[in-house]
Amino acid sequence: MTAKIVVVGSFNADLVSYMERMPRPGETVHGDRFATGAGGKGSNQAVAAARLGADVTFIGRVGNDVFANLAYEIWDAEGVDHRFVTRDDEVATGVASILVDASGENMIAVVLGANLRLRERDIDAARPQIADADMLVVQREINLEIVPYVLRTAKDLGVATILNPAPAAGASRESLQLADFLTPNEIELETLNGGAFDDVVSAARGLLSRGDQTAVVTLGARGAQIISRSDSILAPTFAVDAVDTTGAGDTFNAALAVGLSEGKALSDAVRFSNAAAALCVTKPGAADSVPFRADVDALLAQK
Ligand code: RIB
Repeated sequence: MTAKIVVVGSFNADLVSYMERMPRPGETVHGDRFATGAGGKGSNQAVAAARLGADVTFIGRVGNDVFANLAYEIWDAEGVDHRFVTRDDEVATGVASILVDASGENMIAVVLGANLRLRERDIDAARPQIADADMLVVQREINLEIVPYVLRTAKDLGVATILNPAPAAGASRESLQLADFLTPNEIELETLNGGAFDDVVSAARGLLSRGDQTAVVTLGARGAQIISRSDSILAPTFAVDAVDTTGAGDTFNAALAVGLSEGKALSDAVRFSNAAAALCVTKPGAADSVPFRADVDALLAQK
């Protein structure tokens, strides 16, 4: 069965510098390599879901500038439906300045630009596509006022949702309550928790307001913790040599949406997501490093 996924989110042009180690504040270090690529958490998730075999509709906003061309190139190459992406004549396409060190770790500063001008009417225009979807995925690199509206629209239409609370600062209680699946990483969980926590499971449970909600906390090289009100399971990930972790969380979220939409049990969908994210970190770039379905299935078959 082909999963139908709607992603509401950001597109950014990623300007990536690779270096031995990150500079400290006030310090200059020399990089080894520079690359420009397609990024943005929303678009990365859309591309990843398409490469993993889903029919994908992306709803977002870009500028009327050369950086937006990177978006259309990758969406067209991967078959992502971008009819509901609008172009803004006044504000530039989002841009992310990314530093990646020799261990593959990154630091990202984003100027969201046109992403912040996504409106409720842009969501309304795609209502039939949302109604027809198996899953809607949204993150927080857009105009934050519409995030609850996006989740409510899907709920009214009977469509399951993943809220990837990235970045997490200022996430409303309403949006956390509306989503069926919450997928913070540990830093985002700390922000949502209002400070450091001793235990991932209790901190994540603090976010759950309904018995049918699930948190899947991504733990990097340790895998992911699946947490409901009554259960908690650690799903370990696959050991790989990390080159660049950018886009791994996006790949994880996309794979979770695809796996669940295909009817996989939650633990199998998370295993599938761990495999996809593990493969993502073995290549440089964001959308460019997202694996194809055959590669994920091959990794799963080996282990
Ligand atoms: O999650 C990775 C993404 O975060 C990058 O592609 C960058 O654009 C930022 O949005």
